[in-house]
Amino acid sequence: MAEKEVVETSEAQIAVHWQEEEYIYPPAEFIAQANMTDKTIFDRFSLDNFPNCFKEYADLLTWYEYWHTTLDTSDAPCWKWFVGGKINASYNCVDRHLKEYKNKTAIHFVPEPEDEKVEHITYQELYVRVNEMAALLRDFAGLKRGDRVTLHLPMTAELPITMLACARLGVIHSQVFGGFSGKACADRIVDSGSNVLVTIDSYYRGGTLLDHKEKADEAVAAAAQDGQKVDKVLIWQRYPGKYSAKTPLVEGRDFIVNDLLKDYYGARVEPEKMDAAEPLFLMYTSGTTGKPKGCQHSTGGYLAYTAGTSKYVQDIHPTDVYWCMADIGWITGHSYIVYGPLAIAASSVVYEGIPNYPDPGRPWRIAQDLDVNIFHTAPTAIRALRKIGPDEPKKYNYQFKHMTTVGEPIEPEVWKWYYEVVGKGKAVIVDTWWQTETGGFLCSTLPAISPMKPGSAGPGMPGIHPIVYDDEGNVVEPGTGKAGNICIQNPWPGAFQTIWGDRDRYVRQYYERYCKNPDSKDWRDWPYLTGDAAVVAADGYVRILGRIDDVINVSGHRLGTKEIESAALLVEEVAEAAVVPVAHEIKGKEPDLYVSLKPGYEASEEIQKKVMDSIINEIGKIAKPRNVWIVADMPKTRSGKIMRRVLAALSNKQPEGDVTTLANPEIVEQIKQMMQG
Ligand code: PRX
Repeated sequence: MAEKEVVETSEAQIAVHWQEEEYIYPPAEFIAQANMTDKTIFDRFSLDNFPNCFKEYADLLTWYEYWHTTLDTSDAPCWKWFVGGKINASYNCVDRHLKEYKNKTAIHFVPEPEDEKVEHITYQELYVRVNEMAALLRDFAGLKRGDRVTLHLPMTAELPITMLACARLGVIHSQVFGGFSGKACADRIVDSGSNVLVTIDSYYRGGTLLDHKEKADEAVAAAAQDGQKVDKVLIWQRYPGKYSAKTPLVEGRDFIVNDLLKDYYGARVEPEKMDAAEPLFLMYTSGTTGKPKGCQHSTGGYLAYTAGTSKYVQDIHPTDVYWCMADIGWITGHSYIVYGPLAIAASSVVYEGIPNYPDPGRPWRIAQDLDVNIFHTAPTAIRALRKIGPDEPKKYNYQFKHMTTVGEPIEPEVWKWYYEVVGKGKAVIVDTWWQTETGGFLCSTLPAISPMKPGSAGPGMPGIHPIVYDDEGNVVEPGTGKAGNICIQNPWPGAFQTIWGDRDRYVRQYYERYCKNPDSKDWRDWPYLTGDAAVVAADGYVRILGRIDDVINVSGHRLGTKEIESAALLVEEVAEAAVVPVAHEIKGKEPDLYVSLKPGYEASEEIQKKVMDSIINEIGKIAKPRNVWIVADMPKTRSGKIMRRVLAALSNKQPEGDVTTLANPEIVEQIKQMMQG
């Protein structure tokens, strides 16, 4: 089956459709201080001025050499931005700020235990630490421009330091979300061809100091089985000078970074002058097949786009204290904790732990203590904090000027709590819609220019021109109330360049569906397929309904149904597996798993547990299904295809529709009875 085909059961089909809300206007105090108040920005970034309009973002950066070609389309749809330009991301995020800001905090590291001191890392200290780490990566680990290195780090300051050290050398980092399993890390090591893994001994999560080094052992072993040898594992210490994991070090392979750094004391590494289109990093994400894909992001275009949007959408000034509560292991953290904010000299907060540890007042205490005035999080966290601590924000003396929501649709009711209680009615909110692939925001209001509308992301960003197509390729006009497949008409500098090692899949999955001419070198012929369904109101505000493909968005994180199903199929007794999205009060969506067993096996709790364990082991806890339903058979079409639509209806307690054409309609009633206990 071609990947472009729409699946039968998508998130979008089970989306809740809420009412169109009234506008809410930004407060005058916010507008008075905002970085972008000039409405003509939309004219400057109109399609008529494309692609040169993006010079405005690129000019926020310091270039060694200016580009000669803004957009090179000769290898369509692999777009190259700012060709001829030479730049270094580490230089732009660190060195160039020293003159004015060396004494200012770049990163506030907040440990999860409240009795541990917050670390305020100045730009000068960041400069020193990035340089010393870069020297170690180059001279001890032998890494050089173009090599890939896998990082499996949690939320500590060592993560951005390692990323910036790689960027300094032109080494392509591939950071794997710390919560992923060793096996998931191994898959990414293999795909990216990394022979160095950077990790940490331990970190705090929910009050427990987790042994993280054990995952490195699993990862290295599993990668070796798949033919990728990891020569060196570089291990940061959560407590410098003390090894705090139980797992022993492997002689000749494992090295303690904090010890090695002593040899690089005072080292300074000249930043590599990178071509703008050379890759900066890979970020793996789930897609429609079992194998996660490595989205390859560029250096110049990506940094220009994240710097521009951090300045104009996040409204970050060097004097602000900015806290994005996402994990740097996801794209939000790369773009809006590390690269975008640091490129514009922000003070960015890195918080180690979970939002509600030890209680739901924690985020607001951090905000109060650090005087955070820009706050950025996902609906899943907002829902959870609202549920367990609805009155907590009032108890603390902080005031945000700006708040962001990202990662999934936000219910107007939840939006209003965020606005009234967390923002105390005085902060603007931006609902930013985008993806791992897109590097930066696609749709959002500009906070001092456009009014907010709860539940809607807002119009296309300057220079981003959305268009909605129906399944036949007709344009769905704004204001018709009809949903369709939302695409972007034009390339933009933040967009990924390809899927690492798989250009065909990149073209097939993102561009084939609405391509007007596969031989064309004109960007106008290549609309980008986002994979989301959306409705656009008459005012151009976009409301996202969810995924149209086999991807489930759990707490704002993407999981491929095929990945979960493959993990279930590893259990010996399992014959078939099908995952469907189910609505969840806090997480937005959750996977629900159905399995049937091979002949001769009986359903048992033990098998259910084996399936759960396999999923946790292969992917991580994040992918844990709500239930493992062991069914006698799957509802199937006469041609033998599993009818996920029917299973999704059952999981979501919705009518299952017409099942008479199934090969085995009686199974639906049986499953229903089993689910009711
Ligand atoms: O379905 C959309 C949803 O998250 C998907 C992208 O997930 P990921 O690549 O993990 O990146 C998440 C952070 C950018 C999208 O295809 N999504 C993201 N932001 C929003 C959203 N859905 C509705 N509203 C949003 N603001």
